[in-house]
Amino acid sequence: MITISHVVALSVNKVIGVDNNLPWNLKTDLSHFKEYTTNKIIIMGRKTFESIGRPLPNRINYVVSNTIDKIEGASVFKNTNDAIDSAKNLCTKEDLDEIVIIGGGFLFRDTLSITNKLVLTKVDCDIDGDVFYPDFNLGEWRELDSKSFLKDSENDYNFIVSTYERIT
Ligand SMILES: NC(=O)c1ccc[n+]([C@@H]2O[C@H](COP(=O)([O-])OP(=O)(O)OC[C@H]3O[C@@H](n4cnc5c(N)ncnc54)[C@H](OP(=O)(O)O)[C@@H]3O)[C@@H](O)[C@H]2O)c1
Repeated sequence: MITISHVVALSVNKVIGVDNNLPWNLKTDLSHFKEYTTNKIIIMGRKTFESIGRPLPNRINYVVSNTIDKIEGASVFKNTNDAIDSAKNLCTKEDLDEIVIIGGGFLFRDTLSITNKLVLTKVDCDIDGDVFYPDFNLGEWRELDSKSFLKDSENDYNFIVSTYERIT
């Protein structure tokens, strides 16, 4: 079975972004993101791509956009379904088993219903922002593992990285 996952960092009040950027510096979480996504297909919205500023190395980059046709180093799709279909075909062809949705708010909303794994970085803050992770029912998910990290000079807040699999 192909896993379709969300990898996202969210505050207590579900903020994920502000001014097309991340609302925090969490260096350790960025390392976790890099490690988790390396050698996988990553799908992102156009604004997240612009916020990152380049295709991420050692990953197969898919971008969903109606306003951009071509990006060097990434495949561009007019809608989320086309991106998912292509990613599934590539998984079969290349013997890959996971497609990772990396944001932002549009993409997470578009794909939550077809996602069977969540990798959540729960950031211990209530913060202002303009992009939110969608509401979801934790009753539909089972926690597989969880690891806590403490605020330090390279990480603005305490945070917990928890992995869930869908049970319904
Ligand atoms: N905390 C985290 O883990 C995390 C992760 C990723 C991003 N973020 C943050 O999230 C924010 C960006 O999120 P966002 O919601 O504003 O934008 P987004 O989801 O990254 O991108 C939205 C754009 O993607 C395209 N798109 C999305 N769904 C589409 C669909 N169904 N059909 C066609 N095109 C579609 C459209 O591009 P066009 O306008 O070109 O058509 C749309 O304007 C930033 O602040 C970023 O830093 C946070």
